[in-house]
Amino acid sequence: MIVPVQERLKTDIEHWVDHFGRERSSLLPVLQEVQKKYSRISAYAMQVIADRLDIHPVEIHGVVSFYHFLKEGHKGRFEIRLCKTISCDMMGRDQVARQLENELGIHFGESTPDGRFSLAWANCLGMCDQGPALLVNEYVFTKVTPDKVHDIIADFRKMMDVNLFQQVEEH
Ligand code: FES
Repeated sequence: MIVPVQERLKTDIEHWVDHFGRERSSLLPVLQEVQKKYSRISAYAMQVIADRLDIHPVEIHGVVSFYHFLKEGHKGRFEIRLCKTISCDMMGRDQVARQLENELGIHFGESTPDGRFSLAWANCLGMCDQGPALLVNEYVFTKVTPDKVHDIIADFRKMMDVNLFQQVEEH
């Protein structure tokens, strides 16, 4: 049976809202899931998300336009976006940025040659009281320090190595 795309989209959104929770803070992760799976965020998707999270669709449209990266797709397998807005800036954003560049050997706006990571800036992620904040794809990290940067990247590297190992095992 062919399920109409809108029905499938609605079911997916309900699943993601259940997964991330029915709070406003789930908006970004849900939008990213929609973007990842459907390559775009349609007006219909915004309406369904608005209903489920009880947020006005106009507000959602504003967030989608603001975070234009949601439409661009990921550059690296994991795209790291560090908040550049004022609260995070005052809480040590620059040290975190330098550590990210050192760990990955790239500058902001670039991807690692193996395609695993890319680095970019983000505008306020809504975690201003817990800065510096960053996103790795849909995962949010708060109160990030240079030491934590090392651990975060090591964890994602490990995650990728395990996935690769499983793929090799399965073939
Ligand atoms: S200023 Fe960084 S999360 Fe708001």
